[in-house]
Amino acid sequence: MERIKELIQINRSYRRFDNSKDLDMGFLEDLIYSARMAQSAANLQPLRYVTVTDREKAAEVYSTLGWAGYLKDWDGPEPDERPVGYIIILSTKDSSYAQVDAGLAMQNICLTAIAAGVGSCILGNIKKERLMQILEIDESLNILYVVALGYPVENVQVVSIREAADHKYFRDEEGNHYVPKRCIEDLIIKEL
Ligand SMILES: Cc1cc2nc3c(=O)[nH]c(=O)nc-3n(C[C@H](O)[C@H](O)[C@H](O)COP(=O)(O)O)c2cc1C
Repeated sequence: MERIKELIQINRSYRRFDNSKDLDMGFLEDLIYSARMAQSAANLQPLRYVTVTDREKAAEVYSTLGWAGYLKDWDGPEPDERPVGYIIILSTKDSSYAQVDAGLAMQNICLTAIAAGVGSCILGNIKKERLMQILEIDESLNILYVVALGYPVENVQVVSIREAADHKYFRDEEGNHYVPKRCIEDLIIKEL
């Protein structure tokens, strides 16, 4: 398989990591380099980033996040499986395309990370006011998303949505995580 397709295939949302394996700040800076290279509407580049590798700060960031809403019996990763790094995506308040820019930047971040064997999860379920306080962010910026990072310790697989009950991801008894994706035939509505 071409390398880019292989990376896209394994670029899943990982939510359990080896908490004993640190990431260094230089690695997170590399990820921001990839974010910097992303397309940006009108090239306004409204995004800003906070990078976190400090253990105490990481624990504070973790406390603001909501994990895997569809897994009702799971409250998020246990301490030894929590992320070891975070990138917080912020935007200046004057940009109407910041959400699109954030999507593109996060995809570059996640693909660059997985190319180095580092898994990620984009999180939008955030106690934003609390996280603003923790990071001491002033009112000129909005928090959009958090990207959690670490070396994955879970098996995440794509399955056809036709073989699943619906679109909701699920786990089996061994803890394998399955992500139903729609079939190509259901996505392309016309080929002209
Ligand atoms: C904008 C956005 C917000 C997300 N927010 C959360 C979140 O708050 N918590 C979480 O556990 N996963 C979150 N996810 C991950 C999705 O649940 C995940 O992308 C989806 O289940 C498909 O799995 P996949 O990424 O492995 O393809 C988010 C993903 C995106 C793109």
